[in-house]
Amino acid sequence: MNYKKFINEKIKEIKETVGGEKAISVLSGGVDSSTVTVLGYRALESRLKTIFIDNGLMRKGEPENVVKTFKKLGIKVEVINAKEKFFRVLKGKTDPEEKRKIISDVFYGDVFKKILEKNRVKFLLQGTNLTDIEETVAGIKFQHNVLEQIGISTEKKFGYRLSEPLIELRKNDIRKVAKLLGLPEEIHQRIPFPGPALATRVIGEVTPEKIEIIRKATTIVERELKNSGAFQYFPVLLQDKSTGVRNKKRELGNIIILRCVESKDARKATPTKLSWRVLEKITKRLTTEIPGVNRVCYDLTPKPPATIEYI
Ligand code: XMP
Repeated sequence: MNYKKFINEKIKEIKETVGGEKAISVLSGGVDSSTVTVLGYRALESRLKTIFIDNGLMRKGEPENVVKTFKKLGIKVEVINAKEKFFRVLKGKTDPEEKRKIISDVFYGDVFKKILEKNRVKFLLQGTNLTDIEETVAGIKFQHNVLEQIGISTEKKFGYRLSEPLIELRKNDIRKVAKLLGLPEEIHQRIPFPGPALATRVIGEVTPEKIEIIRKATTIVERELKNSGAFQYFPVLLQDKSTGVRNKKRELGNIIILRCVESKDARKATPTKLSWRVLEKITKRLTTEIPGVNRVCYDLTPKPPATIEYI
């Protein structure tokens, strides 16, 4: 694939689609939305507004990091606080697909819609990729950002249009485009992170308390597996409790699953053969640094039959 040609074509396409109007890019800090933001900025410059929605479900320090990284590229990012809104709609919801749908509805039908209306903008740039579309269309799971491809017209439903420059590409190609666009390595080599964010890593009801546990666990796991070279790695918080013993007393604690996989483009995945030493170190950190966590299990299931994420 000729990545340079792809970049030039997409910049031209965004210019043509948006015409003389303005557009908004919603940045999550991942490689896909970062790539789209830079493409959009090259095409529209000051006519592109870039926002980061703090939905309360992001990793530690994420809003600050995103603002800092993009400032270095000359792109201003506005952070919008929508934490309460997301926790409110997720309250009491336990079904995986229902959780995904609710998050998508709040993003598109509420948060984005209001921002676009307020700014009188008709175009939303987003980084949907080919794997997202295939999995949603095949009915495997509803990826939060796939709408047009399953017959949902955002223009009819919400009053704005989507521009999706990356829909032909998979993660490995997007990384190459991102690098060529001058994004720093910490972005173009960043492991994938799903749109519904840490909510996909809490089984059952998503509460601020559970998100806090999984956020701490995510920081530890990402730190310990940073140099593993794996495609993706993260912890998952189960809803059952486990009996443990601490300070000679019985303790009902949380169970964390560690997931770390090898994959090319997320369509298939195999568990990484992590060393016993690494597994023991992560287990020790999770069970001593996060109050209430007393059991850690390593997931050995490939995709298929499991998917990479748990919901
Ligand atoms: P699964 O769990 O289906 O995940 O094997 C495949 C890849 O997609 C990521 N993923 C998502 N990305 N929105 C996204 O932008 C989503 O709703 C979503 N769900 C899963 C997942 O992290 C993995 O890399």
